[in-house]
Amino acid sequence: MNVLVVGSGGREHALAWCFAKASSVEQVFVAPGNPGCQGEHGVSNVEIDPSDFSALAKLVQTERVDLTVVGPEQPISEGIRDYFDRFDLACFAPTKAAGRLESSKSFAKDFMSRNNIPTAGAFITQDLEEASEFIHQKGAPIVVKADGLAAGKGVTVARTTSEALEAAAGMLTEARFGDAGATVVIEDFMDGEEASFTLLSDGVDVLPLASSQDHKPIFDGDKGPNTGGMGAYSPAPVVCSRVYEKVMHKIVKPTIQGMASEGSPFQGFLYIGLMVVGDEPRVVEYNCRFGDPEAQPVLMRMKSDLALLCSAALEGGLRNHQIDFANECAVGVVLASEGYPNKYDVGFPIAGLDDEMPNAKVFHAGTRNLNGQTVTNGGRVLTVVGLGDDIVDAQKAAYDRASNIKWDGMQMRSDIGHRAVERLNQPG
Ligand code: GLY
Repeated sequence: MNVLVVGSGGREHALAWCFAKASSVEQVFVAPGNPGCQGEHGVSNVEIDPSDFSALAKLVQTERVDLTVVGPEQPISEGIRDYFDRFDLACFAPTKAAGRLESSKSFAKDFMSRNNIPTAGAFITQDLEEASEFIHQKGAPIVVKADGLAAGKGVTVARTTSEALEAAAGMLTEARFGDAGATVVIEDFMDGEEASFTLLSDGVDVLPLASSQDHKPIFDGDKGPNTGGMGAYSPAPVVCSRVYEKVMHKIVKPTIQGMASEGSPFQGFLYIGLMVVGDEPRVVEYNCRFGDPEAQPVLMRMKSDLALLCSAALEGGLRNHQIDFANECAVGVVLASEGYPNKYDVGFPIAGLDDEMPNAKVFHAGTRNLNGQTVTNGGRVLTVVGLGDDIVDAQKAAYDRASNIKWDGMQMRSDIGHRAVERLNQPG
């Protein structure tokens, strides 16, 4: 079959690469993709904006695309699935209504409350006075979230009440995130270990993918401001078999059943951000797509034909399928521009991209070609993924490969996977 991947980041490069090596796939198109996608055998970039649904649908028809898979949240929240459904084109993504699990945090909170899904207690308001009163009552630490999509920047984990008040005021009166911040969700702080739990859903049945954990803060030791993710690894040992069973029983099952019974069955990738306290998992957030950078290490371990599974999900037939991952561990290290997650410059030539190494792969995100040279073109520029028999080997493979790549101002964390390494070193 022919597959179209919508998006241009590291996650989309990993999806395109994964589809291109599947035996059911002949040709992969990526709209608009990046130079890394274009460099893969059997993959072609097509210069179409992910929000231009009519041009995407036309491409699907002219190139006889059998399956479209959507990477980022924006086109999902804008209704790409609903648009493709009108033309009977197979699009593996949730509908706009199902996508509210990510595009509206207040919807997700109310949904979890209606369906008894464990999560932090929350107060939802559009009024700064109410928000201030609640923050003063509760005290810090406390979490302030913009209701809508804010490119990963709409969450403040406030350590002090004044930080929380400043975040709420920024959203409610200064329109820091435009309409996305016109409603705020103020949540209890949850103290535990985070994990990412992603699954494929056909609306009724699910296939869980390998667990993973990302590292959102910019600096080693999980210090500094949050980013889109500075690295991720898979599997995440915090999701042990006990936690896994609880996630499936207390979170996944009621989520999928709840969405179906409320008239918005969920088909697509569902990413559940978890906080694990002891061995009790709670939902931090839903994302209606694969995580980035989680997709890169998880897909490096994928042994199944992902295109067949996405197609089966669209036909409502996941019950008869299974999904397999290599036993190896994968560590993905993000190489980022100097200044990210704040202001950064682009256009720096990148050296060392061609040095192949066994057990490592470089996925592009913020890159572009300039006069035959690959240059930086974003905050998160590359994700280097290493595979190994255990987390330490995988870390070594990733960092060995990353050490050969250079540009002016390149930054990366040096401790991706540290929690899994610490667990490995724990007695017993
Ligand atoms: N890594 C977090 C996300 O994709 O939103």
